[in-house]
Amino acid sequence: MSEILIKTEEQIEGIRQSGQLAGSALVMIGDYIKDGVDTDYLDKLIHEYILDHGAIPATLGYSGYPKSSCISLNEVVCHGIPSKETVLKPGDILNIDVTTILGGYFGDTSKMYTVGEVTNSAKKIIDVAKHCLDLGIQQVRPGNQFGNIGFVIGRYAKANRYSVVYEFCGHGVGIDFHEAPQVDHIARRNSGPMMQPGMIFTIEPMINEGRATTKVDKNDGWTARTSDGKLSAQYEHTILVTPDGFEVLTDVTGEYK
Ligand code: MF3
Ligand code: CO
Ligand code: CO
Repeated sequence: MSEILIKTEEQIEGIRQSGQLAGSALVMIGDYIKDGVDTDYLDKLIHEYILDHGAIPATLGYSGYPKSSCISLNEVVCHGIPSKETVLKPGDILNIDVTTILGGYFGDTSKMYTVGEVTNSAKKIIDVAKHCLDLGIQQVRPGNQFGNIGFVIGRYAKANRYSVVYEFCGHGVGIDFHEAPQVDHIARRNSGPMMQPGMIFTIEPMINEGRATTKVDKNDGWTARTSDGKLSAQYEHTILVTPDGFEVLTDVTGEYK
């Protein structure tokens, strides 16, 4: 078990810059989400954008992962591989997850998009997943325990009759892609390590309409789908613990200011 890193001011600034670039890639790609567009094209735009800004996509070549983003449609929980065969159609919901390496520092964020008109149940799971992330973020302050992030997320998801994916978690991030600690999105109140100023980690709840369990595609070894084929939604930010609370390093909209 490795220690949870406390980042220096210099490291925090580097991770902030990388996080801002990852967040701005998600804003940029929003204009291209349309009926008939394939996800490999979206990935190529993200790839070019990241390189144009002097950074590298962290996923490309990571444990053999072949693309510069993860694009996960409908029942895909996470790690959807962009492909020319995956073409957006009206009613689809999708998560795009971008991780950048800028100046050696990692920033990791994802959000949901919709194609044309989507059902009310699709809108609802997207809204609940976003609120789950926000409730988790509101738990970030020195002295609070990591388990309280998963506690509030689990409670809110359950109140909406959704389930929380436990097979994929948030993670420390910044110097490396996946650092300690593992950030569980469903957890016991007042469990886990204590948050301290200078810690940086992701919160990235995956919320399912049906069962919590997932199945990884046997052919590609990556694509994780809900085991019952029902919808899943996810949002992710990279968060810094500050002396009096949190800073959302991947927020480019000023939403958390
Ligand atoms: N960005 C993902 C995360 O939030 C990890 C993707 S790893 C990949 O942790 F290899 F699938 F790209
Ligand atoms: Co992550
Ligand atoms: Co991510």
